[in-house]
This record gives sequence, C-alpha cells and structure tokens, in this order.
Amino acid sequence: MVPRFPETTIVNLDKLTYAGNLQSLRTIESAPNYTFVHGDICDLDLIQRLFAQYNFTTVVHFAAESHVDRSIHAPIDFVKSNVEGTVSLLQAARAAWSNSDQRQCRFLHVSTDEVFGALGASGKFTIDTHYAPRSPYAASKAAADHFVRAYATTYDLPVVISNCSNNYGPYQFPEKLIPLAIVRALEMAPIPVYSRGENVRDWLHVEDHCEALALMLRQGLNGETYLVGGSGECSNLGLLRLLLTIVDEELDRPAGTSLSLITFVKDRPGHDFRYAIDASKLITELGWEPNHTLAAGLRTTVKWYLANRPWLKAVMDETYRTYLQTQYSV
Ligand code: DAU
Repeated sequence: MVPRFPETTIVNLDKLTYAGNLQSLRTIESAPNYTFVHGDICDLDLIQRLFAQYNFTTVVHFAAESHVDRSIHAPIDFVKSNVEGTVSLLQAARAAWSNSDQRQCRFLHVSTDEVFGALGASGKFTIDTHYAPRSPYAASKAAADHFVRAYATTYDLPVVISNCSNNYGPYQFPEKLIPLAIVRALEMAPIPVYSRGENVRDWLHVEDHCEALALMLRQGLNGETYLVGGSGECSNLGLLRLLLTIVDEELDRPAGTSLSLITFVKDRPGHDFRYAIDASKLITELGWEPNHTLAAGLRTTVKWYLANRPWLKAVMDETYRTYLQTQYSV
C-alpha cells in the first residue's frame, strides 16, 4: 500500500481490547513508514519510552472505550482508559515537548458530541454549547476534554480538540447500530431497536471524519475546538429503513425481508434523545466538507461488510456473541 503521508513516521499504539483487531490493519501493516506497538495508554513508562525513541511531534489521540451500553455496565473501565489514559498521554507529551519548540508539536484529542448531552426536537450543538454529559461514557470523555484544556492553559501544551457525531463505515465493530444491524440481517436474526426507534443521531462517514482530523492537524489553531458532523440527521428507525432496504437489494432478497427483523426492546437507561452538529466553524475556517451522502455512504458500507465476511467472523468471536445474547436476550 502507498502510504498517505510518506514523509511522516506513524506509530500506532493499541491495546487490542475486544474491539481492536490486527486484521483491521492488514492494508497498512507493511507500509515502510508504519509501526505497530501493542500497549496501553495508561502505561506511562511505555509512553515515555516511545516518546524518547521516536521523538514524536504529533499525537492523535483516538484511543477510548467508546460504547455507551458498556459504560452503563462497567463505568470504571471508562474512567481508566478515557480519563487516566488521556492524562498519561498528556503528561508524556508535556515532558517530551517542554524543551522543544512547541509550535512544531500538536496534541489532537479526538472526542465526541456526547459531552454536550441531549438535544430536544430542534437546535444543534455549537462551539458554545455547555458540557452536560449524561452517560458514564460521555462523562469520561468530558473529563478527558477538560484535562486536555487544563494542560493547554497550565502548561501551554499545543492542543486541538475535535467533537464529532456518530461515525459509520468499514471496520466498525458490530456493537454500534449500523454494523450490528447489517450483521443481524445477514444472519436473519432479530435487530434490537431501543424503545420505538425515535432517537435521532447525526451520521458521518468515517472517511469524512478523518479528512476533518487531517485538516485540524495541518491547519487547526492551537487551543481551538472544532465540531464535526455531516448534517446526516436521521431517527434510528428512519436510518434502519434506509440501511435494511440496501441490505435486501445487495443480497437480492425480497424487499422488506430485513426490515421484518426489527425488534423493539427495552430502552437504554438515560438514552440521549437527539444529537445534531453545527460544523460551520470547521467548514468556514478550515474548508472542510463531507464527501459522502448518507445514502451513498450506507451503500458502500453494506457492500464492504458483505465483501469482508472473514473479517466479520474474526472479530465476532464467541465472547462477543455471548455478550450480545446477554445484552439483548434476542
Ligand atoms: O455521537 C458520537 C457517539 O456515537 C460516539 O462518541 C460513540 O462512541 C458511539 O458509540 C456513538 O454513540 P451512540 O450511543 O449514539 O451509538 P450506538 O451505535 O450505540 O447507537 C446509535 C443509536 O441507536 C442510539 O440511539 C441507540 C440506538 N441503538 C443502539 C444499539 C447498539 C439501538 O436502538 N439498538 C442497539 O442495539
């Protein structure tokens, strides 16, 4: 594979917990400028050794426990990875960059719109929306965001924060709504929808998110926050109608086959009603625009999952299947 940034050495640190899988990295693993390190962001000694070895000038902090339902069952895991892990990375960056020209360095913290809480039927999250996290996951990401800003204020660490809406696309672990629905439809198994499926999410293709992050890295201003969202608002039921129609078309099934698998289940506790992003700052200041419409992005995503069944099999091991059964009893 031709590396996207040939002049840059990229070190990917990952703990490879349940949602991480080396199979997802096959297409880049032999790139000459890429190295994989198996490790934990909470391991400060390891992070400091890596800083010493590679002289990093940039940290892109994607690592997180990210699934709301899991945070309801195991909140401490989220405090560990999302809060302690973030502070450990900040601490290592601060130590390594304190004697260098910090203007050459950048700590990009990848966060979520869930820190802003839930919207009613109208309005959007803006750069001025106050933090009001409502799930243990959202609270842990909000705490992490506050630590990032505190390091910028107290130690002049050159940080940029991104708060993004719901992502979808290839390689997403099938616990999130879209890949979960594709997998369940493939297996002709019930598709669990919380409550009546009326909650609204603002869907963004992962490649559009990554383009936004690349812009923030190159052109973002230190200390700034950018909101990322593709104006892809849809109720969960509306989204599943669109998605499952595509699944049936791609599988040559009679229309409505997959839709009939939808099963309404007990609501998620504290389920945020609606998210929607005002991305105007990113658009006007950094020139970002999403390239995927929801309909086209969902189709390429469905095609990807259908063409990558060995990957699906590999990530959906027995542990995960048991989790699914206990979680939804469907
Ligand atoms: O908004 C950004 C956030 O989006 C990210 O920060 C999170 O890491 C990511 O998990 C996502 O959070 P959500 O809770 O919105 O995503 P999820 O795919 O879990 O759920 C999307 C919607 O679908 C939500 O309203 C809950 C509903 N849902 C979800 C699952 C897994 C169901 O109705 N049934 C399900 O089985």
